[in-house]
Amino acid sequence: MAWPEALDRVLLTQAQLAAKVAELAEQLRQDYAGKTPVLIGILTGSFVFMTDLIRALAMDLTVDFMAVSSYEDATVSSGKVRLLKDCSHDISGRHVLIVEDIIDTGHTLEHIVQILRNRKPASLRICCLLDKPSRRRTEVAIDYVGFEIPDEFVVGYGLDFAEKYRNLPYVGILKEDAYKK
Ligand code: IMP
Ligand code: MG
Repeated sequence: MAWPEALDRVLLTQAQLAAKVAELAEQLRQDYAGKTPVLIGILTGSFVFMTDLIRALAMDLTVDFMAVSSYEDATVSSGKVRLLKDCSHDISGRHVLIVEDIIDTGHTLEHIVQILRNRKPASLRICCLLDKPSRRRTEVAIDYVGFEIPDEFVVGYGLDFAEKYRNLPYVGILKEDAYKK
């Protein structure tokens, strides 16, 4: 795979990501045994993680997606989140698992949790591939975390910078001068 000029280094390799997805899937399979959870991926960033995660989950489940506005081509959260696309299923009485790529300030997830909780799901949990705990500005509790990462801007495996690099099969750290002008 070519090395994009804007990348400083690889943070998580394809092998590390695959091993973590398998580990998370095994935990989820145990925790949701006998249930048919609804997995709601938050677009766009979570779509790669979601497709790998569901294929590692040997159990009945429902796949759904929601889209909210987030950084709008910047690397700093505005704290404002707008619902762009709602999920398609009625989640009342269902076991809902939010699947997110990364939690930074937590504003995005806090907003989504609020929307979904109002619909009275049987349970509501969060599965996040990446967590930047040092950046948290909210108290949203994450039930399943793939990796805690340092406060650096990462791309790849679904994550973008200005809509680029989502298709990298690994997670890389962007050079600071690629986004700080
Ligand atoms: P939060 O609302 O600050 O928690 O931001 C969460 C959203 O911001 C994620 O769903 C990502 O779309 C985006 N985001 C946060 N940090 C990064 C990063 O390092 N790389 C790419 N996107 C990020
Ligand atoms: Mg994004």
